[in-house]
Amino acid sequence: MSSALYFTHKGILFPNKEYDVETLNFVENEFQLLDDDVLNVTYPKSGTNWMQEILGLIWHNGDPSWVHSSFVWDRSPWIESTHGMKIALASPPPRLMASHMPFQLFPKSFLQSKAKVIYTLRNPKDVLVSFYHHSKIFKIFKDPGTVEEFLEEFLSGNVMYGSWFDHVKSWLEVKGRPNVFFNSYEELQQDLRGSVEKICLFLGKELNSQQIDSVVENASFQKMKDNPKSNYTAVSDDILDHKKGKFLRKGKSRASWVSSVATCAFAGGIVGDWKNHLTVAQNERFDRVYQEKMRRVSVTFPWD
Ligand code: A3P
Repeated sequence: MSSALYFTHKGILFPNKEYDVETLNFVENEFQLLDDDVLNVTYPKSGTNWMQEILGLIWHNGDPSWVHSSFVWDRSPWIESTHGMKIALASPPPRLMASHMPFQLFPKSFLQSKAKVIYTLRNPKDVLVSFYHHSKIFKIFKDPGTVEEFLEEFLSGNVMYGSWFDHVKSWLEVKGRPNVFFNSYEELQQDLRGSVEKICLFLGKELNSQQIDSVVENASFQKMKDNPKSNYTAVSDDILDHKKGKFLRKGKSRASWVSSVATCAFAGGIVGDWKNHLTVAQNERFDRVYQEKMRRVSVTFPWD
């Protein structure tokens, strides 16, 4: 593991750029969540930015002007990054924020607050493929090597933000709390409107039918891909190598996606892309580790 790119905090890897131990400790122990805060929490590559867009649109009753005028990392800052924490501290309530933290490193103040968390899960095999692609294009991440090599790193939790299994299990511990809403990338794909309605209910936001239509329309893969404030094209070349690929990969909204999936090495924004990347043996290896690590979890997931 390249020490120049990452550091370890409480057993979990973080990138040196944009993260430091002081901020991570502040987030966990001192950052005060307020009752009207809303936090979008995910393990990386689980649909974080999609949920940012959905929440940004709901926040403004379906009006897309905000998501078209403010960068995603400013309108909903990642509290554990140095940049994000500065913005979060300067933002007036009610605040919309994001985090990839496992529950044990999340602000302790959450347990005494009514702040709302929306936790979005995704099939870990698709997370793995998306993470692999992401690590190829982001220069602040270690090159993932081959899929075989990255599979082993992912299964052992030797990746940014640690183990998918530990992350999900940490958040499942608080799933029953009234201020925690669980949701999945697969559900968003299957029924975006239904998911938006459920999220509105959870947030206590009453949007009319046209406003919900606008949220659904403006949170589509294609609209996000066309939105320079959400598609990461503004990220500088020293962080994201735009020549190697796009942050938002090819989505199912494009008419050609079915034929492309079979041929394009990096088709994405879809459910089940792992089938285009993992060999039978790799899939079996994944399943063995999954079954072992998740054997005490009684929740049924959309991919089960
Ligand atoms: P793929 O890499 O499989 O394409 P995160 O935001 O947590 O980093 O997750 C990124 C994944 O969400 C990427 O998956 C990306 O394409 C997908 N995504 C982002 N916006 C989406 C949208 N509007 N509809 C469907 N998928 C979306």
